[in-house]
Amino acid sequence: MSVLIAIDGPAASGKGTLARRLARHFNVPHLDTGLLYRATAAGLLAQGARLDDVDQAVAVARGLALTDFNEDTLRGREMGEAASVVAAIPEVRDALIEAQRRFAARPEGAVLDGRDIGTVICPDAPVKIFVTASPETRAQRRALELAGRGEKVEFEAILEDIRKRDARDSGRSSAPLKAAEDALTLDTTKLGIEEAFAAALKIVTEKAPRG
Ligand code: CDP
Repeated sequence: MSVLIAIDGPAASGKGTLARRLARHFNVPHLDTGLLYRATAAGLLAQGARLDDVDQAVAVARGLALTDFNEDTLRGREMGEAASVVAAIPEVRDALIEAQRRFAARPEGAVLDGRDIGTVICPDAPVKIFVTASPETRAQRRALELAGRGEKVEFEAILEDIRKRDARDSGRSSAPLKAAEDALTLDTTKLGIEEAFAAALKIVTEKAPRG
C-alpha cells in the first residue's frame, strides 16, 4: 500500500511540520519543496549572481541534488525572501518539476509540501491538504522559529514579511499559491501541533484508506 500526500499553504502555516509528521507516521519519504527554491536562491547569491538572472537561476536549479541541502543556512529569514523571488521565475519552476514528480512517483508513496503540489506537481494526488492560518498566528510561529535559530526579529517586521510573501506567492502568474479544487483546507490558527496532526491524519485516512 502506498500513499501520496500533497500539502500546500502559505509561509509559516505549519505545513512543513505536518508534512514531516505525516511522512513519519506513514513511513514514506518527505520532500520540502521550499528547500529547492531556497537552495536555488542560495546558489545564485553564492555566485554573486542576481536573483533575476534567469539563465544562471535555471543552471543552479538544474544542478540541485535533492538530498544534500544544508537546511540550517537555507532556513533563515533572508533566504525565504530570496526564494520567493526566484520561485516567481517560470523557467526556474520548469527546471524543478521533473525531480519533484520523480520523488512523488516513488512506489512506497511520499509526502510533498510547497505551494503548487496539489495544483501543478501532483494534480492526481489522492490526498491534498491546504494548510492555512491567520497572518498574525503565522508571524508568531515564524518569530519563535527564528528566535530558536538565534535570529532576533521584531514581530511587526515578520508580519510584514509574511504579508509581502503572501502577496508575491499568490499574485505571480506561474503556479501561484492557491488551493487545488479538490484540496481540503485545514485552518491551524487555533490548533496546536498535535491537534493539527490529528486533523490531517483524519483527512488522510478518509481520503486514502489503507489496507
Ligand atoms: O517555510 P516557508 O513557507 O516560509 O517557506 P518555504 O516553504 O521554504 O518556501 C519559500 C518560498 O519558496 C515561498 O515563499 C515560495 O515563493 C517558494 N515556493 C514555491 O514557489 N513553490 C513551492 N512548491 C515551494 C516554495
